[in-house]
Amino acid sequence: MNSTTRTIIAAGAVGAVLLGGTAALPLTLAAQQAPPTQDPPSARDTAQAASANPRLIARGKRLYIFCQACHAAEAVSGSKIGPNLAGIFNRQAAILEDSVYSDALKGQDFVWDEEKLDVWLQRPANLVPGTSMVFAGLPREENRAALIAYLKTL
Ligand code: HEC
Repeated sequence: MNSTTRTIIAAGAVGAVLLGGTAALPLTLAAQQAPPTQDPPSARDTAQAASANPRLIARGKRLYIFCQACHAAEAVSGSKIGPNLAGIFNRQAAILEDSVYSDALKGQDFVWDEEKLDVWLQRPANLVPGTSMVFAGLPREENRAALIAYLKTL
């Protein structure tokens, strides 16, 4: 056998293994391996919409590390330096009895909806000048959206 023949045989063996391997791949695995860019946009958007919430909430929960030094998030644990945030979404501003609020926040008459929380988390003093919440703010909109998604679950 000369060296050319050996090369041809070797190439054939490799090809057979590759073909066999591909054919043996379970369909689900093959689907997972398809790069997302090959999906039609509409299918991709639908998939993202369906899975956005749990992922967004998980991300918000991680971002809550910026809040937890000052804010408890469980209904039973009372307020820390800042008011307890359990049930904060759609709650009237500055209504917890056991929390010390600034006069500035006490003077407000609104509920904490998405819009208010978004401005607040960007820079508290932009929403309520004179607030005692000392927090630099989250400049990135995606981070605020994630944190708000998490706050809704408290
Ligand atoms: C350094 C402490 C501190 C940090 C960090 C902090 N806060 Fe606060 N927060 C406060 C204080 C103090 C108040 C009360 C503000 C006032 O009365 O003006 C407050 C008030 C609030 C309120 C209004 C509550 C109510 O009952 O009306 C919300 C909502 C809030 N914080 C959310 C957050 C979130 C979300 C984070 C994390 C991104 C955060 N805060 C980080 C101290 C803090």
